[in-house]
Amino acid sequence: MTAINAVTDYSLEGDVGVITLNSPPVNALSAAVRDGIADGMAKAFADPGAKAVVLICEGRTFIAGADITEFGGERKGADLLKVMQDMENAPKPVIAAIHGTALGGGLETALACHYRVAVPSARCGLPEVALGLLPGAGGTQRLPRIVGVEKALEMMTSGAHVPAPQCLAMGLVDELTEEGKLREGAIAFARKVVAEGRPLKKVRESNEKVEAARGHPEIFENFRKANARKFRGFLAPEYNIRCIEAAVNEPFEEGMKTERRLFGELMSGSQSAAQRYAFFAERQANKIPDVPDDTPQIPVGSVGIIGAGTMGGGIAMNFANAGIPVTIVEVKQDALDRGLGVIRKNYERTASRGGITAADVEKRIGLIKGSLDMNDLAPADMVIEAVFERMDIKKDIFTKLDAICKPGAILATNTSALNIDEIALVTKRPEAVIGLHFFSPANVMKLLEVVRADHTAKPVIATSMKLAKKIGKIAALVRVTPGFVGNRMLAQRQREAQKLMFEGAMPWDIDRVLYDFGFPMGPFAMSDLAGLDVGWVKETSKGETIRDVLCEMDRRGQKTGAGYYDYDENRVARPSPVTEKIIQDFVAKSGVNPRQISDEEILERCLYPMVNEGAKILEEGKAIRASDIDVIWENGYGWPVYRGGPMWWGDHVGLDKILARMMEFQAQMGDVYKPAALLETMVAQGKKFTGS
Ligand code: CAA
Repeated sequence: MTAINAVTDYSLEGDVGVITLNSPPVNALSAAVRDGIADGMAKAFADPGAKAVVLICEGRTFIAGADITEFGGERKGADLLKVMQDMENAPKPVIAAIHGTALGGGLETALACHYRVAVPSARCGLPEVALGLLPGAGGTQRLPRIVGVEKALEMMTSGAHVPAPQCLAMGLVDELTEEGKLREGAIAFARKVVAEGRPLKKVRESNEKVEAARGHPEIFENFRKANARKFRGFLAPEYNIRCIEAAVNEPFEEGMKTERRLFGELMSGSQSAAQRYAFFAERQANKIPDVPDDTPQIPVGSVGIIGAGTMGGGIAMNFANAGIPVTIVEVKQDALDRGLGVIRKNYERTASRGGITAADVEKRIGLIKGSLDMNDLAPADMVIEAVFERMDIKKDIFTKLDAICKPGAILATNTSALNIDEIALVTKRPEAVIGLHFFSPANVMKLLEVVRADHTAKPVIATSMKLAKKIGKIAALVRVTPGFVGNRMLAQRQREAQKLMFEGAMPWDIDRVLYDFGFPMGPFAMSDLAGLDVGWVKETSKGETIRDVLCEMDRRGQKTGAGYYDYDENRVARPSPVTEKIIQDFVAKSGVNPRQISDEEILERCLYPMVNEGAKILEEGKAIRASDIDVIWENGYGWPVYRGGPMWWGDHVGLDKILARMMEFQAQMGDVYKPAALLETMVAQGKKFTGS
């Protein structure tokens, strides 16, 4: 074994030269890794004993892409494109040996090899789109040449990590080796290539699949149309598509130039900067300053859930999906049956769309057990309460859990509003109590607000954060405050949306501005979807609010065909003259002179108070860092990722501008707009929340 550099070794194993990369955590293509590949290849090509070359990685994964931390910095080390060219033009076969994930630049490196072998558990993908980018090292030109245009469109615009067996089926991988025996398998494959005199396959020269799509622009147009909703607002998917068009219509070298040019545009743009920030923000959110990585974990082998409603059922599915057995407790048999029925229906729907197999459905359902007896939760390692939002009910449940659950069990509440410190204090073990605020639908939404109460023990926090990742959630740790972080900031936007309506803006104007900003829908469309009568009581309603009047008229949202909007039979919304009249009457009664409100003002009024509230949350220590707030808003409330979350966005709008407007609002409309002290300090010191 010869050391090529600090992260690369070369060895001759029989007649095969093996280059091994070892650059934790994910073998990203840092300058040292690029140098290592370049020098390792040069050594292997010059080694007369090596008839073929295998490129393999140590650790958890094959190369997981470019080193994102190097982006925007000084260019050092070997040029990746040159390294790839040398590999492709090598005088002997080069084979990539893939385990873990071959992503982005990692897959591009593998595509510049003549052959690829992988273990069955490996995955391959070009996930640059998620960073607001496109594969910038020939991937856009090579992938369609090997898997065809349709599959390349799908892979590059979704960023999916495709399992190795599927990669084999589409020709992206040439052979699967036995799990855990990649090195031996790859060397054996290399010998086979030599023995059979197989050609040095250069993906760049294989034009059949791209030529088949030439003269068929409709392939691209149809793809754009079918995905218009998904891609709305994002630049990167469209740029990826254009590169594939170039692969079809231009010779390889020209296509490479197009790729380079479009990559440069994305890399220097604001969207990719925001999306790269979001990538690191999500990972940063897992790091809790006073709960270090080596904090003891509590093994969670089984979970109890109280409440089989929409929330409880959705939460149970998360654990079953991750292979963790769940017991759901309800008070009445029919409620339990209903809840378990909904879970089965959800799984069956996913299976009917091809997401999971029928066997998966049964396996997951098999992990979920129903019960009417809370004593069945005695052996659970963690119990999550997901019942109606009433303090007296929650206190009663936690008192019972305290008596039933084994010592060391984590007692969690899914409350979205109630004071967890108060709940914890009814138990004799407040250190075991934590908030796990899932978002509805809990089996779909990515965000988990983990709420640390006054007495929550560090192992309980560490375990909850790790478990969140295991069940596929993105977690952010917050402290107890009304509405926690997400809903506390949402309340600002909701208040402004309502106020604007009383000043002359119509619900559809406000919704349009927020939709155009990039939210999936505005607050009024959202209310119509959720149902205006959530929390509304017919018997006590006195027509005091617009919502009261709408509900009294049986305009309760989409489900009744009308709410703020009118809906046609396909649930397409139209501005409603009825609602408009109700609003006008309210405004007239209140003596306010309605005015024309610009889109700019609507946006400022809805979003600046949120940034201000974020600053208050930080100054009160309710969130650890500004980027955690952004993680919450991007993953739980539809804030467009390409605008980086409210705090990143605020930094880019200019905190001085936001402060000045908040002061104007305060002067005109009162102290709810009072600027946060932290906002004032940041502006005075010329600082930013996200350091961007
Ligand atoms: N560059 C630098 N650091 C990276 C990285 C990358 N490409 N990918 C992951 N890391 C870091 C993470 O920041 C994290 O660091 P900390 O431990 O300090 O927080 C660490 O590696 C582990 O990452 P995860 O916590 O995400 O680990 P995981 O096991 O859950 O997931 C992964 C591993 C699937 C590889 C995931 O990290 C991932 O998706 N990475 C990004 C892959 C990617 O987007 N590649 C394309 C890069 S762009 C490109 O390649 C452009 C081009 O065309 C040349």
